[in-house]
Amino acid sequence: QFAQKDGFRFFMEKEIYEQSDVVVDCMLGRLSDDEILFDEIDKSLIKGINEIKICACGTSYHSGLTASYLFERLSKVKCNVEIASEFRYKEPLLTKDTLFIVISQSGETADTLEALKMAKAAGLKSLVICNVDNSSMTRTADATILTRAGIEKGVASTKAFTTQTVVLWMLALYFGKAKNVLGSDKLQSELHALREVPKSLIIDDSMHEKTKRLSKRYLHGHGFFFIGRDVFFPLALEGALKLKEISYLHAEGYPAGEMKHGPIALADPELFTIALMPQNLLYDKIKSNVEELSARDSTICSISPLDFDLSDDFIKINETDHYMLEFFEMLIALQLLSMEISVRLGNDVDMPRNLAKSVTVE
Ligand code: AGP
Repeated sequence: QFAQKDGFRFFMEKEIYEQSDVVVDCMLGRLSDDEILFDEIDKSLIKGINEIKICACGTSYHSGLTASYLFERLSKVKCNVEIASEFRYKEPLLTKDTLFIVISQSGETADTLEALKMAKAAGLKSLVICNVDNSSMTRTADATILTRAGIEKGVASTKAFTTQTVVLWMLALYFGKAKNVLGSDKLQSELHALREVPKSLIIDDSMHEKTKRLSKRYLHGHGFFFIGRDVFFPLALEGALKLKEISYLHAEGYPAGEMKHGPIALADPELFTIALMPQNLLYDKIKSNVEELSARDSTICSISPLDFDLSDDFIKINETDHYMLEFFEMLIALQLLSMEISVRLGNDVDMPRNLAKSVTVE
């Protein structure tokens, strides 16, 4: 019941280190040899569904954005994602063939809860992906999938995001299978990759050391751009949010291919670019985006399994054969990097200024 730091310096650090174990709990009983099982979902929930709409805030919004790529790619279902506080006031058009999914660690975020109530009032079927059982959202939605991350104390969300993303990835496969759009080879290779997630979240001492060393210089950064493509774009947003929350440094997440449409004008040696460069997805595309930034003298830190000669700094992740495994490996690097920068700045890692763990006001 009462969380302890168990020898770690901060709850955030403990929660980063716990991720490999909590995803095992998250997948328990949900991953069989040839399918995904969700006892929580009644077949009637997905019957007649042609579209998915996701609503959430903050880090939970980032897992939703990641899922939108997975739903369209793996389940061939149209999926769009909205920030709950925007959704509520835009007079959204809702159709009954849409499954409304809200994502929330706490289950209490006011804007997300109100968005869920709006969708229910419009007659949509609803599902919440949540870490807290018997919370306002789990009591409101038609169905709940619990992420089983355990208590998350650090204001900066870490393991909640990881488990949300794993649940959403499994859900995309569940939908793909139910809709018969996933070949059995594809499904097998996705299931294989899912089983490798706990391994991809094990933290190498060398990676942690590297982020500690980099933090010495990076705390002087005047501005940070985290860039990525595809699912690595929401991951870039998440990396930037982590840094902002606990280091109070200015950081933006951006789609790598969009930099040349404006932000590249900011490039100079004081601009730190954190480039997410997966081997298994669009490597050449991101590489050319990073080359453009390097040519304009931005300081580049690449996070990748592959060394890249234009990088000033390099955080190496393990080679894997699936982009989602690279996603989780990079996530760890991003979490550690922002934590170590925050530590060096002398900030309160677990309770950053101006923030609350759950935002129950509008
Ligand atoms: C993330 O590190 C945050 N502190 C914050 O963005 C959080 O994800 C957001 O407030 C949503 O909270 P929820 O998941 O409990 O709904």
